[in-house]
Amino acid sequence: MRIDILTLFPEMFQSPFSVGIFKRAIDQKLVSVNTHNIRDYTRDTHHTVDDYAYGGGAGMILKPEPIFEAVESMKSDIYSKEGADALPILLLTPQGRLFTQEVTHELSRYRHIILICGRYEGVDERVRQHLVTDEISIGDYVLSGGELAAMVVVDAVVRLLPGVLGSEASPLDDSHTTGLLEYPQYTRPAAYRGWSVPQVLLSGNHAQIAKWRREWSILRTLERRPELLDKANLSLEEKQLIDGRKQS
Ligand code: ADE
Repeated sequence: MRIDILTLFPEMFQSPFSVGIFKRAIDQKLVSVNTHNIRDYTRDTHHTVDDYAYGGGAGMILKPEPIFEAVESMKSDIYSKEGADALPILLLTPQGRLFTQEVTHELSRYRHIILICGRYEGVDERVRQHLVTDEISIGDYVLSGGELAAMVVVDAVVRLLPGVLGSEASPLDDSHTTGLLEYPQYTRPAAYRGWSVPQVLLSGNHAQIAKWRREWSILRTLERRPELLDKANLSLEEKQLIDGRKQS
């Protein structure tokens, strides 16, 4: 997958992408992440990227020209023949569609995505209307810019790409992928300060372990994020388990 990120602060992206799973994915060429400074696409001598809002008001607005030109130069670089209809161009903004695990799966299917990081008080509306194909918010709070949000999106998407995580199966067990939160996990030692690992996990009985994990996923979701259960795929027996808990 190729990811292009338009930002006024490319240096913010250096450290997150140079460690761990991410670094390995880049080294193995499973993903390429390119940051582009929006300022490099200005044409005036002062390299102006923002301006006052028409109609007045505090704060500066990101100008449309450098953002359009950056995206268009990227498209013409790569898609000179094929066209780029299926290329998502995403604006990170608190006004966007909420970023969920479902959206990570959706984005992980593309060969190429472009992310635009907003800054200051906003982005000229024509960027939203005539350039971007989708707007993404990582939550109901306001960050000082889209950069941290873009890192969240890129991290969550890249770990789903085939070969990026050691075990192919692990992203499927993630909290939210199953519609449920993940079950409790333990490692050695089996007893620590008198707190023991549940016996069933030491039993080697895989069917029992799977049953225990499923039940804990359900109970943990009930306790912490009950609204997720409405969409989860539960058997009759599992629904009864929940009703029993609710009554007790
Ligand atoms: N930019 C500022 N706040 C944001 C948010 N919550 N999500 C995405 N981009 C943002």
